[in-house]
Amino acid sequence: MPTDSVLPPLPSFDTRPVRVLFVCLGNICRSPAAEGLLRAIIEEKGKEHEWEIDSAGLYGGHAGDLPDSRMRIHARRRGLELTHRSRKVRPSDFDYFDLILAMDHSNMSRLKEMSPSLETDTKIIPMISFVKNLASRYDHIPDPYYDGDQGFELVLDLLTDGCQNLYEAITQARKQL
Ligand code: 4NP
Repeated sequence: MPTDSVLPPLPSFDTRPVRVLFVCLGNICRSPAAEGLLRAIIEEKGKEHEWEIDSAGLYGGHAGDLPDSRMRIHARRRGLELTHRSRKVRPSDFDYFDLILAMDHSNMSRLKEMSPSLETDTKIIPMISFVKNLASRYDHIPDPYYDGDQGFELVLDLLTDGCQNLYEAITQARKQL
């Protein structure tokens, strides 16, 4: 069951953009979709200068690739073009990003293993903890790679809800600073 997340320390609006990294296994399905969805929300609100968004994978086998064609097709049906090029998580990501959002339990534990300090540990948060609508039925964002169309649609439904709530949670938290 998802739990409410406690956000790590964030930069104030007048310091610099908040830096958010989405992470999954291959960085060709879930995390580039989350990146695209959050970017679309930010663009719609005209807040590009306040955010820096990226995504990465724990498995480097797809490095340089565009998102999986099935994910691109499903995203395009929702008006979203996914153009990210896959890359592997780098050690420097842990210091650079303010928030590192993991798609599933395996991503969480691998990121925690790689995290260099207690401070960077607090940046690693399950993406499902921002999902409200469908959260009672899922405790992670399921890997759609070996699934059919329904798996990709489910990922997009979960991430659409999660990115909206993530946007609001970060914006609210930064207003308190
Ligand atoms: P993702 O999906 O982690 O959401 O990008 C996958 C992509 C590739 C593989 C597994 C999951 N793979 O085994 O190559």
